[in-house]
Amino acid sequence: MKVLIVGGGGREHAIAISMKKSKRVEKLYCVPGNAGIAQIAECEPSIGVMEFDKVVAYAKEKEVDLVFVAPDDPLVGGLVDELQAAGIRTFGPNKKAAILEGSKAFSKDLMKKYNIPTAAYENFDDPNKALAYLETAPMPIVLKADGLALGKGVLICNTLEEAKAGVKEIMLDKHFGSAGNRMVIEEFITGPEVSVLSFVDGKNIKIMTSAQDHKRAKDNDEGLNTGGMGTFSPTPFYTAEVDEFCKKYIYQATVDAMAAEGREFKGVIFFGLMLTPNGPRVLEYNARFGDPETQVVLCRMKNDIMDVIDACIDGTLDQIDLEFEDNAAVCVVLASDGYPESYEKGFEITGLENFDDKDDYFCFHAGSKFDDKGRIVTNGGRVLGVTAKGATLKEARAKAYEATEWVSFANKYKRNDIGKAIDLV
Ligand code: AMP
Ligand code: GLY
Repeated sequence: MKVLIVGGGGREHAIAISMKKSKRVEKLYCVPGNAGIAQIAECEPSIGVMEFDKVVAYAKEKEVDLVFVAPDDPLVGGLVDELQAAGIRTFGPNKKAAILEGSKAFSKDLMKKYNIPTAAYENFDDPNKALAYLETAPMPIVLKADGLALGKGVLICNTLEEAKAGVKEIMLDKHFGSAGNRMVIEEFITGPEVSVLSFVDGKNIKIMTSAQDHKRAKDNDEGLNTGGMGTFSPTPFYTAEVDEFCKKYIYQATVDAMAAEGREFKGVIFFGLMLTPNGPRVLEYNARFGDPETQVVLCRMKNDIMDVIDACIDGTLDQIDLEFEDNAAVCVVLASDGYPESYEKGFEITGLENFDDKDDYFCFHAGSKFDDKGRIVTNGGRVLGVTAKGATLKEARAKAYEATEWVSFANKYKRNDIGKAIDLV
């Protein structure tokens, strides 16, 4: 098969490596890709993921057998629909289904209607009504822009003043653009957060091994929210009891709810769960693989990813047994200092060859590119996802941190406590 991956981050590099392992994949393409992905796939850096016409034309020109759309923006925008309309076999939810991530108001209403456990909430499209509602609401409270906002559209407010300022920021000043035309005001809940990825074929759902992200920029969960500074898998917080609860009330219920709404979901559903004292609650849905969750999950999957993808598209996922290695993985993101605010890029990355021919170590590229001299340079906030597998989380963590020293670039920044939560369990 010839396969085209749409996207260009660490998640896409991990997907590409999994596909490369498949005996069924003859050639990989990626738009726009990055310098790491370019080592195993033909990349076209000039095509952006939102340039739908160009992506469709490229897929046709290369006569690919399958397109895998990985990021949220093109999924929510309907790239899958456009590719399918052009007769191209595509993995990922169509626009009608991707609304599960594209509108938080939609997903909250869905959960309410189908009794899927989530935090209590109200939706607003009138800022005055939102402000009036806050007057009697308990603090802290959580404000969420309805649409996609690069993972930044969530404000946790401790006081009424902060919350009022937040409504203004989201709905009036349009800090997150049109994502703030509507908003969700939600009860503040507490507990460890876990990420659960799943494959879905419209009717059936198969759960992957669990993972845990570290969203804040600095150690001890301080600093600003980021796209994710590191992950580990599995997470000991995801116990058999939690799994049983989620299987009973959340996973299949979500797939059935989407089908009942005429929005059959095919692709990956990412359940962002909070394990509260009252049981697991869905914090959010994503309609795609997580980044950097994918980096620690797919490297532990035993199945041929192409078999699973086919089963999702063909509606035969019930015939697949997902299998994961009985080990652990840790991913430490090496970022550009200053991320997620301002940072410099264009610095040469050295030492990448240290990862060659090492089975348990991966250096997933996120923000990297070739400069005009052919050197690999930094090209984003999150630069690399250094990942290692080990028999236990402790071992994987020690190996991942050791490997972060194998690569160098100016302004290299990382958290030093990825996977530390495991010491608490
Ligand atoms: P989301 O983009 O919905 O995952 O929200 C980003 C982060 O905000 C989550 O990972 C949580 O840490 C936090 N968060 C979201 N909703 C709530 C809530 N209802 N109560 C407490 N924290 C929340
Ligand atoms: N790591 C969280 C996400 O992909 O949204």
